[in-house]
Amino acid sequence: AKGRFDGSIGIRCSCKAAICGSCGVRVNGQPGLACHTHLDRARAASKDGVIEIEPMGNMPVIKDLIVDMDAVHWKKIQRVTPWLLPEGDPPENEEYKVPAEAMIDVTQSMACIQCGVCVSACLSLEVDPEFIGPAALAKAYRFVGDPRDDETEERLKDLAEDPHGIYDCTH
Ligand code: FES
Repeated sequence: AKGRFDGSIGIRCSCKAAICGSCGVRVNGQPGLACHTHLDRARAASKDGVIEIEPMGNMPVIKDLIVDMDAVHWKKIQRVTPWLLPEGDPPENEEYKVPAEAMIDVTQSMACIQCGVCVSACLSLEVDPEFIGPAALAKAYRFVGDPRDDETEERLKDLAEDPHGIYDCTH
């Protein structure tokens, strides 16, 4: 629609290959990546063959399909200290080494492209906008499950004691 009918339509996109995570929208009410949506399937699932595209939910709209991800998504990612906190100094002249199998558990959360689609779909966030939300919890888990991190207890305690933390999650 932007290319053929109205170049002023606001939508973020970059890779068009489901990698960069910038094109999150709602298609017929379901959050997903615009570039990863098959038009024929979306049309088949729609009412009267009309595909309805809306901005993601739970985040303020800036323009058309562009939402303010800083206000909710990135702010909460920052909240969980999204970097490793290992004990002591790093190994000299080499990287931290862990067995590959020790990382299997966090592989899925490491692969998250931070598109914000889970934030858009989160019903707990609709009830409590201060809830830390699924993307930040996944990011927190990425470090809680990392054997190189030395702050596991502190991270979990922090998320458990926050009244808008992990126990707001209905899953
Ligand atoms: Fe990059 Fe859709 S444009 S994920």
